[in-house]
Amino acid sequence: MPSSASAPAFELARPKDAPLDPPPLYAELRTERPVTRVSLWEGQLSAWLVTRWEDARAVLGSPAFSSDPSRPGAPNFKPGTPQPRRGFFQGHDDPVHALMRRTLTREFMVKRIDALRPAIARLTDELLGDLTGRPGPADFVERFALPLPSLVICELLGVPYEDHPFFQRHSKVFVDLTATAEETTRAQQALATYLLELVRTKRTTPGDDLVTRLAEQVEAGVITEQDAADLSSFLLFAGHETTANMIALSTITLLHHPEQIPYVLGDQDQVAGAVEELLRHISIVHGGLRRTAVEDVTIGGVTIRAGEGVIIPVGVANRDPEVFAAPDDLDLERADARRHLAFGYGIHQCLGQPLARAELQIVLPELFRRLPGLKVAVPMQGIAFKRDSIVYGVHELPVTW
Ligand code: HEM
Repeated sequence: MPSSASAPAFELARPKDAPLDPPPLYAELRTERPVTRVSLWEGQLSAWLVTRWEDARAVLGSPAFSSDPSRPGAPNFKPGTPQPRRGFFQGHDDPVHALMRRTLTREFMVKRIDALRPAIARLTDELLGDLTGRPGPADFVERFALPLPSLVICELLGVPYEDHPFFQRHSKVFVDLTATAEETTRAQQALATYLLELVRTKRTTPGDDLVTRLAEQVEAGVITEQDAADLSSFLLFAGHETTANMIALSTITLLHHPEQIPYVLGDQDQVAGAVEELLRHISIVHGGLRRTAVEDVTIGGVTIRAGEGVIIPVGVANRDPEVFAAPDDLDLERADARRHLAFGYGIHQCLGQPLARAELQIVLPELFRRLPGLKVAVPMQGIAFKRDSIVYGVHELPVTW
């Protein structure tokens, strides 16, 4: 294990005066010590921080690293993190990871996601209609950014319409950082029980949806009923808050750079490019991706020993000047923004990225077309950013239009 003596503590917090940028310390480290030691858990553990884009890809693309959080030395957010059940496959290595991921790959093929686009557009329209139907100011997170991905996941999974309020109520608590541990556990359990029931229902009453197709794989003996329910919970967990935070932070970023709003109102290619640049620039998974070496391996000229942990702060790698020109600038016309690592890289690269892209590509143009007078109702310093959470975002966002 690397010594933690003199290693800086790994902090999530972004600067108060520049809440949309990564902490400046990491840019310095990227230049001076691109593979360096940081300490975690108040000095109880140390890990390697890998900040260059090239090195980040080398770690994420290498079979010499594990993402099992229960391995000794794993640089988790909290000590004593157990390995999740196999349906939560990000915390597993191959072959279990591959087996679980394979059950879902067809669900996220571009053709299938394209078929969801009309539903995403309809939900966007309904929620914006509801938002503007009452006088402002309103909390954009509560009224739009959070319910949209939750309702899209309902469509994806095949949650019956009448169960949407139940599903939304619990999934909101599930991702609410201000909820007590007891409330979170209760919401998690309610959703887990609901999803297990849904798998059972779809086995007898199939529909044209993801849970039905998982139920078919249960019938075929590929996975268990519990796996099918866990896989559904995992998608809700992985795809809800991430997308919600990207919608809210993209909105703040665009309002902060109003001269670039026309790019999200442009043609499809322009909108797609703008979304990639927003993903790169904001890089919401700011707690970094976490791995443990399973054998000795050299990254950026530094030997990482078996059992040592590695943290990859993708937001810092996404500002690497060796890859992106003027990386701190938001440039929605940037030609190579898609090389970003905001969705990770390698075998764990985000499975839901076609869906996340579709949501952002539909929501942002519609939002700025429908609400040309949209404004954040408080100054930047007054916005409640989620400073200590793994996924960056805002607790609430008062807006007027
Ligand atoms: C803008 C929104 C999103 C961002 C920035 C994002 C980011 C990421 C990142 C960085 C990883 C890699 C984790 C690692 O390597 O340890 C990941 C994995 C994953 N994401 Fe996303 N995600 C987003 C939306 C979604 C959505 C909408 C879904 C599905 C509904 C989803 C499902 C998954 C799954 C299943 C994995 C695990 C993949 C694996 O381990 O093989 N994500 N995501």
